[in-house]
Amino acid sequence: DGERIIFMYYKEIDSFPEDFLWGAASAAYQIEGAWNEDGKGPSIWDEFSKIEGKTFEGTNGEVAVDHYHRYKEDISYMKEMGLKAYRFSVAWSRVIPDGEGEINEKGLDFYENLVDELIKNGIEPVLTLYHWDMPQALQDKYGGWESREVIPAFEKYCEALFLRLRDKVKYWVTMNEQNVFTSLGYRWAAHPPAVTDLKRMYAANHVVNLANATAISLFHQLVPKGLIGPSYGYGPIYPLTADPSDVLAAENAEAFNNDWTLDVYCRGTYPKFVMKQLEHLGIAPQVTAEDSRLLTSATPDFLGINYYHGGTVQQNRIEKPENQSSTEKNFSKTDPYLMQPKEEQAMSPEVPMFNGIENPYLEKTKWGWEIDPVGFRVALRRIQSRYDLPVFVTENGLGAIDVLTEDKKIHDDYRIDYLNEHLVEMKKAIADGVEVIGYCAWSFTDLLSWLNGYKKRYGFVYVDRDEHDEKTLERIPKDSFYWYQQVIKENGENL
Ligand code: BG6
Repeated sequence: DGERIIFMYYKEIDSFPEDFLWGAASAAYQIEGAWNEDGKGPSIWDEFSKIEGKTFEGTNGEVAVDHYHRYKEDISYMKEMGLKAYRFSVAWSRVIPDGEGEINEKGLDFYENLVDELIKNGIEPVLTLYHWDMPQALQDKYGGWESREVIPAFEKYCEALFLRLRDKVKYWVTMNEQNVFTSLGYRWAAHPPAVTDLKRMYAANHVVNLANATAISLFHQLVPKGLIGPSYGYGPIYPLTADPSDVLAAENAEAFNNDWTLDVYCRGTYPKFVMKQLEHLGIAPQVTAEDSRLLTSATPDFLGINYYHGGTVQQNRIEKPENQSSTEKNFSKTDPYLMQPKEEQAMSPEVPMFNGIENPYLEKTKWGWEIDPVGFRVALRRIQSRYDLPVFVTENGLGAIDVLTEDKKIHDDYRIDYLNEHLVEMKKAIADGVEVIGYCAWSFTDLLSWLNGYKKRYGFVYVDRDEHDEKTLERIPKDSFYWYQQVIKENGENL
């Protein structure tokens, strides 16, 4: 009967592959601290976070959760948990302090020691090359990603890491959430370099694409046994209704938000529909024939996907003025997946294309992020059918306020529920035929949120500190730590 068929479909047909990479993730700026130790140069985040009013309660990463000095302790918790993979990022300015000159051996040593410690404990390292912390020197000298001059600098930095770690690290991530750091950096001025200019945003985005392809090409020459891909912040778009105009609006939004980046990564071409709109407005990036050759020649081995939530749209408010209504989504600029805030300038290419709106079916977190586990399955399915590459889920998690009890426990059942629901949907996506090679929850320990300090926590391991006080920095496993330990032990069998 029907129930039995459904049961078989999800519970009996598909188990997780034996070598599935159950992991957790982090990023250098958010955990390391030691911002100027052992020769590290300043990054754009070291500078930006010191500008008044830019981050929550003025938090910065000078100390963060002091992982630089406590990585062995952190890895001992990973081992206790049974983690199979750990995704971390390298701070470019630790390896090359001014971004393009001398290599700082001490910087490379730190990451090699970290990798050795992971391997010693049976944990597969997953190394992200760029998680938003451009060396400040490159920003000052060339204007950062707006200039093609940073491409050879990035290539040099990647080469140093490939050569040092190619026998030890198999999985490499190029760019973390290019869509997020370009839009928050160049459109909404919420991240460095705090620009609000669409033309500059599209120009910088193109340079990032070229740097990504350059790194992948070099990797394929130097690390033939490794696997590399970018991590994209993917949110599937839904139409609010079955009105064909809303459906078309969703197609438009999917093209602007997702195809715009992913088509370049996976096919080497920009989607024509979006490019045409940008050309009309005179804000399209300059793409040379040589650029196109590079972009089509360097394809990733897998696609990293960070999934938090998607978006819902309806027909644009020019053709349907009643859509300019109170139901319109109240966008927050600290949400990296925002699509089209209402105060957007008239020349925005998205305005005639779709109108972002609240989804009436979904609950939200305290920070207004929709909670949508089924959307995770939709995301994985869409990626599989459009690009047919193995997927590595490189981030997924719940930001919440955690309370440390007097007996030093954190009862984060809300996080367990969230992760459990997402893992169930991922398992269904695997049953649907999506090749998922691993899943890294965000995050392993608590860490510094770029714009939300330590109030918004994601970790399996609590870190005793807050915005105002570094406190003891003690590590305390949360209830979710033991829950995930069990999931890993059973290889997801009982999800
Ligand atoms: C992702 C980033 O966008 O979201 C992470 O890759 C980040 O670095 C995570 O921490 C959560 O964002 P937030 O704003 O809730 O801390």
